[in-house]
Amino acid sequence: MNDLDTLVQAAQADFAAARQGAALEDAKARFLGKSGRITELLKGLGAMPPEQKKSRGAEINQAKGAIEAALQARREQLAEAELDAQLQAEALDVTLPGRGRGIGGLHPVSRTIERIEAIFGSMGFDVAEGPEIETDWMSFTALNNPENHPARSMQDTFYVDVKDAGGRWLCLRPHTSPMQVRYAQAHAAKHVGTQAMPEIRVIAPGRVYRVDSDATHSPMFHQVEGLWLGANVSFKDLKVVFADFVRQFFETDDFDVRFRPSFFPFTEPSAEIDIRFGSGPLAGRWLEVAGSGQVHPNVVRNYGLDPETNIGFAFGVGADRFAMLRYGVDDLRLMFDGDLRFLSQFR
Ligand code: PHE
Repeated sequence: MNDLDTLVQAAQADFAAARQGAALEDAKARFLGKSGRITELLKGLGAMPPEQKKSRGAEINQAKGAIEAALQARREQLAEAELDAQLQAEALDVTLPGRGRGIGGLHPVSRTIERIEAIFGSMGFDVAEGPEIETDWMSFTALNNPENHPARSMQDTFYVDVKDAGGRWLCLRPHTSPMQVRYAQAHAAKHVGTQAMPEIRVIAPGRVYRVDSDATHSPMFHQVEGLWLGANVSFKDLKVVFADFVRQFFETDDFDVRFRPSFFPFTEPSAEIDIRFGSGPLAGRWLEVAGSGQVHPNVVRNYGLDPETNIGFAFGVGADRFAMLRYGVDDLRLMFDGDLRFLSQFR
């Protein structure tokens, strides 16, 4: 092995030993720099006789080429290693669990509605849902409201800037009672011409809207409408069904139910339903929880049915009220503020 081979090997070893770009450039300078080993050898050529100069020059240039190639190869190696290291450092482990995974839960009002559905479901009630944007006819007229009834007024009802086919403003339904009409009409249409139409037993939960806002009123709240219509369903049946519902909902027998005479255009007679617990934090106070009554003959006619043979009762339960009573919440607004500190207690 001649001195040039040794030199090339030394350069290769130095380059391999360089772990980063800066160290490699230093190594390069030692061989190829202004006073590097190769440069020195080339400078030494000048003192040589022409023949020797030529062959020695060619050998040195060959060695120089080999060193340059080794340098380039090492540069590429280092650049690749650097990229690898960077990719590793910035690697994202998509299999790691996220930070603070929130556990979701059903809203207390949704839970309450599901509970009400399950209880009435067990008593043979169907569950129906309908539109929150309603016609004036469904919301009021079909329900036997006189044209000048205050419930129609702008102070109570939210109107939508769109008119129906009859030129009446649409509204956000102020109660779930339109669902009595929608469900009964569909039921009547389905069984038209049949000998004995099956009874209607349905509940219709959903959002309702009124211009009202304080600790016990929200402009959006929830009702569950109930309708049981048959050949001769009486007020007594309403009392039995409602008391049974309260018993199952609150899981207690220790309460009284009171039917307080009231007025709704769509029922006659009408009653507010109050309950009073015998024990627990709410004991002793009458709490109003629903409106109810025997369906008015005019309303049955608007269902498309004969009021002589279709008799029954309807009720409207305040679902939020039931949620508040069950969970001991005293401000309705908490239910709809969307504050997780409140909501996460119900997970
Ligand atoms: N719709 C009535 C209300 O919102 C409640 C009700 C429903 C009363 C059915 C009687 C029968 O206050």
